[in-house]
Amino acid sequence: MNNKKPVPHIIKKKVWPERYARGWHVLAKADQITTEPQTFDYFGSRILAYRGEDDNKVNVMDAYCPHMGADLSKGCVKGNNIVCPFHAWEWGGDGLAKNIPYSKRIPPKAVIKAWPTLEKNGLLMVWNDHEGNDPIPEQEIARIDDYYSDEWTDWQVSQVTINTHCRELVDNMADMAHFGPVHYTSVKSFSNLQEGHKFVQYMVGAHDILTEGDVPLTSIATYEGPAYMTTTMTGMMDDLPMTVHLLVSHIPVNTNKFHINFGVMMKKIPGVSEVENKAIVDAYTQMSLESFQQDIEIWDNKVLVDNPVLCAGDGPFFMVREWYSQFYTDIAELPESFKERKEHTTVAGPSVKETLEKMHAGAYSSKKVEEVEPA
Ligand code: FES
Ligand SMILES: [Fe+2]
Repeated sequence: MNNKKPVPHIIKKKVWPERYARGWHVLAKADQITTEPQTFDYFGSRILAYRGEDDNKVNVMDAYCPHMGADLSKGCVKGNNIVCPFHAWEWGGDGLAKNIPYSKRIPPKAVIKAWPTLEKNGLLMVWNDHEGNDPIPEQEIARIDDYYSDEWTDWQVSQVTINTHCRELVDNMADMAHFGPVHYTSVKSFSNLQEGHKFVQYMVGAHDILTEGDVPLTSIATYEGPAYMTTTMTGMMDDLPMTVHLLVSHIPVNTNKFHINFGVMMKKIPGVSEVENKAIVDAYTQMSLESFQQDIEIWDNKVLVDNPVLCAGDGPFFMVREWYSQFYTDIAELPESFKERKEHTTVAGPSVKETLEKMHAGAYSSKKVEEVEPA
């Protein structure tokens, strides 16, 4: 008989240093940025964004004026420059002072950090790099052709605030076992792939409430860098496969709070008006936000566990955490192994590809079943 008293596990709480992940982060929908300067409290500080009146180019800069610290986002745009509300120094989008109304000489130290930007897929992104390097070309976000197609709706973007460190969201990529209890989804297959700056989750599931029996839904969720994740999800609606693209991009406010820019884009249903298509996207967005709320409830009340007690059947949390750590590591210290391709299967089962083929072949259409049954 074993008389050993069980030893309670001591949770090691992760304390994150004041450092933010290297990579592209979605700041807003690109069309939200206008010639009116806007304020964004991110990366533990304040940044501003505006479009030049003459060149229509987006400029993102640190918001605090190096002269005496006024908030430039409260100033006004003049041509392609921003004018400080305090002493009217004029700054270019490149971060250089262009004019001081009462001085001929511009001090050489009059330089503000200008953030590298990327407008793609209807989104404005900024490149964060603790070391101050330029964006890494191979990590440029891939073009979503469907965004540029008339057959698809525009993004419907909502913002969600989460009060914890962003790694909690990234952990989700490995979290097979939460789908049942939190999202009422039975997982049929679940696997992950990691390569360089990308991390992918493949899942086939079935929603326990929305769908009856074995009607599946498939999902491929891909992180490109630390903060930009898109998901292509296909389920059945009115006996037809319906595909949506989801955007789950996050941006840190500080080390204990982040925003998710959550977007939904849907392939327009032929023969249905623009208004009705938009109503479907709205309804889908609402449903997804409610699903998110179930995660948020958990995140807002949990601790960051560095040494989780895992069991057989859990997803590869340490794999995703190791992958994610590359974005917090100086480039010179990154081992070559970060570029290696790694795969992990948590639940073996039908692949996304074969499930999609069956869905498109009508294997899950109830109409088809009705037709077959009487024979
Ligand atoms: S604080 Fe901006 S010009 Fe003086
Ligand atoms: Fe979740």
